[in-house]
Amino acid sequence: MIHVDLTGAAMIHVDLTGAAPFFGAHAPDYAAAEAAHRTLSEKTGAGSDFLGWTELPRRIRETELARILAAGKAIREKGDALVVVGIGGSYLGARAAYELIGRREGGAELLFAGNGLSAAALCDTVEKLGNRDFCVNVVSKSGTTLEPALGFRVFRDLLVKKYGEEEANRRIFATTDARRGALKSEADAAGWESFVVPDDVGGRYSVLSAVGLLPLCAANIDIEKILTVAEETFASLDERSENNPCWQYAAARQALYKSGKAVEILACYEPRFRMMAEWWKQLYGESEGKNGLGIFPASVEYNADLHSMGQYIQEGPRHLMETVVSFAVLPGGYTVPADAHDGDGLNYLAGHDFNEIAAIARAAVKAAHIEGGVPNLAIEVTDMAETGFAELVCFFELACGLSGYMEGVNPFDQPGVEAYKKLMFRGLAALK
Ligand code: PA5
Repeated sequence: MIHVDLTGAAMIHVDLTGAAPFFGAHAPDYAAAEAAHRTLSEKTGAGSDFLGWTELPRRIRETELARILAAGKAIREKGDALVVVGIGGSYLGARAAYELIGRREGGAELLFAGNGLSAAALCDTVEKLGNRDFCVNVVSKSGTTLEPALGFRVFRDLLVKKYGEEEANRRIFATTDARRGALKSEADAAGWESFVVPDDVGGRYSVLSAVGLLPLCAANIDIEKILTVAEETFASLDERSENNPCWQYAAARQALYKSGKAVEILACYEPRFRMMAEWWKQLYGESEGKNGLGIFPASVEYNADLHSMGQYIQEGPRHLMETVVSFAVLPGGYTVPADAHDGDGLNYLAGHDFNEIAAIARAAVKAAHIEGGVPNLAIEVTDMAETGFAELVCFFELACGLSGYMEGVNPFDQPGVEAYKKLMFRGLAALK
């Protein structure tokens, strides 16, 4: 894995040249971005009691970091797998980072559970775990979410059967509310080591708390580096000018939304980004989709989806904007081999690196989509390692807060997610 150190300001670039031709009557409103930034930093807007995420990199060092590092080490010593049980904001960030960065040498493999009610998925995870020694990290702020609660039952049961109650309790790590909830009570009663989801941090903004950091640490990912870069990145993104990449992104997407672009496709050419896109969809969907408003967040994985969704993107309804994430430094390289027969006529590419060919393909796709009427917003961060991950998190979180305030909604609540739960529990009551 390649590590690239930041030497100064965060390396996040937003390029709006592919969006500019589509702004029409609605140019990016930087005065509104500035007002939103002021509202957020002065904590005067709706949801201002949920802004703890802006301080997490500093706060966590002063509170739980030492215990997280020790617990991560203990998990690695106890086995080579950690089952992380959680859903939504208590799941996506850790998985996104794990897939983007990859497990580091000596790290535990992370298996994810509790993010659905699929018996097939559960069986797959149990099978994947096999006979290995393992620990469990159950993550739930409320402690009452059905999917992780049931998933946790399964893996706790496996732990108890394998190790007995006492050792099982030493292998369970709970990340939950500091004081309230069923999980907190259980953790206290059973003596599980527990970590906190802070009161002022909503699930989708929690990846830089123990929610994300403990499993990543167990995978031997350098969480201290993530925190250092995140602190620097948040500081640099505090810039109050049109050069702030968060202003550029938030203002551009709101301008395009006003011009009728109601769907934003987040695209990336790196399959390791797939779960980052899922994390981003929750962040933007839950933050902005309310009061009958909100850009619909979708995602595609290129080049694969150029051969499936590409048709719609090129010629379907023109309500799309496309945001493409790329990395300044890519790991590894692979050269196209020469072929003695040249049956496919591609020997002219022999000796060229796949990354070089991919860059040419990217430029072609961008041009074609712009020509087809799809505005293009380009975001570049440093790498697919700790640095780039921290940059992406800080950038997307802050831009989301700004964009939500610019849209006129509270970007930090999610009242709509309760609707299905009420109906589901009504249905489940029949099983009592
Ligand atoms: O962002 C959110 O608030 C949600 O996605 C929650 O994280 C998710 O519903 C899980 O909730 P909990 O952590 O209480 O189990």
